[in-house]
Amino acid sequence: MELIAVQSRGGTAERHVHVAEAEKSNLRADAGKPSISVVGLGYVGAVSMACLADLGFRMMGVDVSREKVEAIRDGRSPIVEDRLGELLQSGVNEGLIDATQNLVAAVLETDVTFLSVGTPTSEDGSCDLTYVRQASRAIGQAIAMKSAYHVVVLRCSVPPGTTLDVVAVEIEKASGKKLGRDFGMCFNPEFLREGVAVADFFAPPKTVVGASDPRAAATVTGIYATIDKNVIFCSIEAAEMVKYADNVWHAAKVTFGNEIGRLCKSLGIDSHEVMNIFVRDTKLNLSPYYLKPGFAFGGSCLPKEVRAVGHLADELGVDMPLVKSLMPSNRTHIADAVRLLAPFRNKRVGFLGVTFKPGTDDLRESPTLSLMAAMLEGGATISAYDPNLDFGPMLQGQISYVRHAEPRQARLMDELESLVVEDAATLVDSCDVVVVSHATDAFRAAIEARRPDVHVLDLARLYKDIPEDRSYQGIAW
Ligand SMILES: NC(=O)c1ccc[n+]([C@@H]2O[C@H](COP(=O)([O-])OP(=O)(O)OC[C@H]3O[C@@H](n4cnc5c(N)ncnc54)[C@H](O)[C@@H]3O)[C@@H](O)[C@H]2O)c1
Repeated sequence: MELIAVQSRGGTAERHVHVAEAEKSNLRADAGKPSISVVGLGYVGAVSMACLADLGFRMMGVDVSREKVEAIRDGRSPIVEDRLGELLQSGVNEGLIDATQNLVAAVLETDVTFLSVGTPTSEDGSCDLTYVRQASRAIGQAIAMKSAYHVVVLRCSVPPGTTLDVVAVEIEKASGKKLGRDFGMCFNPEFLREGVAVADFFAPPKTVVGASDPRAAATVTGIYATIDKNVIFCSIEAAEMVKYADNVWHAAKVTFGNEIGRLCKSLGIDSHEVMNIFVRDTKLNLSPYYLKPGFAFGGSCLPKEVRAVGHLADELGVDMPLVKSLMPSNRTHIADAVRLLAPFRNKRVGFLGVTFKPGTDDLRESPTLSLMAAMLEGGATISAYDPNLDFGPMLQGQISYVRHAEPRQARLMDELESLVVEDAATLVDSCDVVVVSHATDAFRAAIEARRPDVHVLDLARLYKDIPEDRSYQGIAW
């Protein structure tokens, strides 16, 4: 019924009340700042209301819960959160904060809508988008009545694709309007931590915006201008995925710390002493290092130590499912490369890079050897080039070691020297597909000079921008 009340464009008391309130509030809001409706007044929405009002924005909160709406209108925090009550109270006192259960009216009288309804887990484990869909339809009904361009900012944690394939589609259906022309969409993930959410809002770890069009992007960056000048722009789907990657990473960190803790306890070692030293290493441990998708881990240390820690845990009766999952996950990654090469089973497959990483002649547990052995066994004609392979006594020692440690690679070790060609160009010239595992300039140059019919499987991310070439494929991008 409230929808009908606002549909009659200024013809009802309901509509007049909102407009009058908005006009009053606008006197106190900083001129030129967009007014913002926040749909969903939970942990995320209530904090956005309070903090954005503190920055001078006129805020209109919306929730289906009457209690939450009343709390916000009274300047009371609907949740336990440091400083939230005091900011809401001063926002209300300054006439910058109001709240309603009427979503359509709230959207109608604001320029931007932040959507922060819940996205709980469905019975099957998927993300339940029921509330997102419901709210999107109501936002669409409001946009149908607006002549001005409106920006919708999705702040919920959702599966990639939701912003454009669910929210934008629902809004377009309900409004009959066009994304990019009549309204803009952004995905702007929320990174706040409960308990310090207000402090995190004003000092965010990062601000990420994926936008449907430059106007929408400019509106959102303008809102955050005073708290973060270095907004990270990306595709909407990348912004959606960043939030998932972040939270899975945080869960992995907690689990890892706890597994190390349980192992330490059973060994009589203080886990906090160990992890306090661990976190001081910001070069390799807490750094971007080892976090960029590429090929499987290998070499003489990582696989050996992962196995040793797993074995130690078994001996001590300590359950370490995360650590125990690392080797199977690594093997899955190698199996995925084998799968990508399946169409080339009877072709000529060349390997640029054989050792487990560039700049070393260490062959031990190189994942490329597993891949080469699988292709050799599968009937491919394989060849290889690696500038660090010098078949002297040192390398022969390693070849004997691999032959002994990995019986499935014995044939490959027997034939390796005869499979190696003199340079990268020769290798690329003589293959149907080239598998690159070292991101070096020399290998890049050889790949760029290839015949157009030569395919590439990139295991090392040779280029920042993914080549739009049908003959090119990456392992994890
Ligand atoms: N809680 C956090 O710390 C946090 C941090 C980052 C991201 N997120 C994400 O933000 C989103 C919101 O999380 P939250 O913790 O604030 O959820 P919440 O459950 O605390 O709040 C959601 C609110 O949305 C309201 N709502 C549901 N449907 C509505 C509708 N159609 N119209 C108006 N209001 C409606 C509910 O009544 C509720 O008050 C989720 O996607 C969550 O994953 C949460």
